[in-house]
Amino acid sequence: MTKILKILHSNNYISGNEIGTMLSISRAAVHKKIKNLKQIGYNIKSCAKGYKLIKDKIFFNEYEIESRLNKNLSVCKIIKYYKELPSTQTTVKMLAQKGFDEGTVVIAEKQTTGYGRIKRVWNSNNGGLWFSVLLKPLLHPEESAKLALLLSIALKKTFDFYNVDSKIKWPNDILINNKKIAGIIIEMSAEQDIVNWIVAGIGINVNNELPKDLKKISISLKEIINKEIDRTEFICKFFTNFEKLYTSFKKEDFKQFLKEYNDNLLYKNKCVTVDTGYNTITGINLGIDENGMLILNTKNELKKIMSGTLREYKK
Ligand code: BTN
Repeated sequence: MTKILKILHSNNYISGNEIGTMLSISRAAVHKKIKNLKQIGYNIKSCAKGYKLIKDKIFFNEYEIESRLNKNLSVCKIIKYYKELPSTQTTVKMLAQKGFDEGTVVIAEKQTTGYGRIKRVWNSNNGGLWFSVLLKPLLHPEESAKLALLLSIALKKTFDFYNVDSKIKWPNDILINNKKIAGIIIEMSAEQDIVNWIVAGIGINVNNELPKDLKKISISLKEIINKEIDRTEFICKFFTNFEKLYTSFKKEDFKQFLKEYNDNLLYKNKCVTVDTGYNTITGINLGIDENGMLILNTKNELKKIMSGTLREYKK
């Protein structure tokens, strides 16, 4: 399905014979594949000139993503798309335990028990982008947080494509107009010195309708741009951005991205409080160091924080 969709996407009219030659299959097999595509809702016109894909609907499924990803990416090799799952995180963690490869991606149209950091409920109605990716970098467990920082940069770059002004709220939330539009969660299995696997879960409010109580603190891309977003385009751009960053990260560590991360940081040089789970620290946000630790200038000293929830300080 993916291959034929790719051909239809990149051609105007194309005959069954031509498609057959390209895919090394018979005309009858081409006809069957076209029928399958029509059955899942694609509008394909057939006339004397051949077949033509009428792009009158925005589709979001694994065939669409695979057919529109420009090249083979190590971070998105296998795509599994579901209409509904409890959580893509739990599914990918299960696949990781079964020995699936790096680049296994699970996407759900809707999650019934989606969750975020510190086990917070993650609202995952239809229309959003809810997915998890399996990664197997050669990392010390303490370095895994750097991956979340990298993913934040990839997300920020993807939002830039839509000409919206997104900011990274340390460690890995993306905000627009001070409202959360995307979040990242990292879970892993590790030995003492080495990571076995990491499951990165990404939730992006794209076309989903946010419940009333969340509207004060969250926003969707559709709300900002005022039109339905093509989620395939978004996720393809995201994975292409992430692939580039991840490849450089594996060669040269995180230091090379420090400036880019800090330049896009929300509440930079502003007074913030960080709840670490053990205590609350208040100080001026100086950005992160090369290990991803947040540097706060408190009254008495510079403090480095590994993890926590950051808020703007309000008197
Ligand atoms: C956060 O901001 O706390 C992180 C939110 C992560 C949500 C995503 S949606 C896809 C994946 N599946 C989940 O259950 N959670 C992550």
